[in-house]
Amino acid sequence: MSPSNTNADNRLPLTKRPRRLRRNPSIRSLVSETKLSVDDLIYPMFVMEGENQRVEIVSMPNCYRYSLDLLLVEIAELYTLGVKAVALFPVVSESKKDDNGTESYNPEGLAQQAVRAIKAQTPGTIVITDVALDPFTTHGHDGVIDEHGVILNDETVEILVKMAVSQAQAGCDMVAPSDMMDGRIGAIRQGLDAHGFTDVAIMAYSAKYASAYYGPFRDALDSAPKFGDKKTYQMDPANAREALTEIELDIAEGADIVMVKPALAYLDIIHQVKANCNVPVAAYNVSGEYSMIKAAAQLGWIDEQKIVMETLLSIKRAGADLILTYFAKDVALILKK
Ligand code: PBG
Repeated sequence: MSPSNTNADNRLPLTKRPRRLRRNPSIRSLVSETKLSVDDLIYPMFVMEGENQRVEIVSMPNCYRYSLDLLLVEIAELYTLGVKAVALFPVVSESKKDDNGTESYNPEGLAQQAVRAIKAQTPGTIVITDVALDPFTTHGHDGVIDEHGVILNDETVEILVKMAVSQAQAGCDMVAPSDMMDGRIGAIRQGLDAHGFTDVAIMAYSAKYASAYYGPFRDALDSAPKFGDKKTYQMDPANAREALTEIELDIAEGADIVMVKPALAYLDIIHQVKANCNVPVAAYNVSGEYSMIKAAAQLGWIDEQKIVMETLLSIKRAGADLILTYFAKDVALILKK
């Protein structure tokens, strides 16, 4: 008896057989619609004070706070692996925090020092600095507050402009406002231009949701809000149309890149943003998304490498041009193999 697929009599009357294009790896790669590349990854990194320090973040296995000397070693290695963009987050000691986060625009602040050192050592690395007050405020909010604990928008924006300008003076390539105050993109653009930094780009955290997925990040920076939550400035997870409004405003105010954050529970938002704008779209695969994969992998419940690649691919397929991810180095190593 001949096998059924060569037996004309038994052949199903199918003109379309999608399996034809899945027959082997070469055909599959020829027709694959989405490709993950290290070119599109941005690695978020934590910098701390001191020397020769590398401290693992308990809720983020294999993610570290580095003192600047060791951060530089890591960044040089990342560059050779093809990871050419980093998003910097400084771990600020309690003694440097105050109610208004004034350390954020100290020209000798940790982030500013780190930018100068990275650009001197590895000029090809794109250094992206975070613009938000939460690592610098005693209360842990992204803005300044009044006596009732209300976050003050316009007062905060003034400080954010100073912060962005000081980061540009230190030599950053891009600033990334993650605070969600109204009007900050336009104000920062004006401030940068007025100081001659017309070439410093803005990657706007445009659709940033009030998410529980940021928990491990707040452990890393010790930046959890001391009272209340961030729901008066970060977006309600129930809202999609509002994300498009935020994106529209940020682009009109001068954002070069817009971002959706978090990524996985918001793939529909990434998809809609991509369909509704013409600037590059970034997605932030945030700390909680990282930690969940790490935890399940440590328990031996999932295949970490495969899950990481599938997850990041889904973020690209949804429409992200760029992905900020704590897996950036792992992906670079996997793709190299
Ligand atoms: C704060 C900021 C947060 C993250 C990036 N910038 C946390 C927050 O809004 O509380 C989270 C990133 C992550 O979870 O990986 N401006």
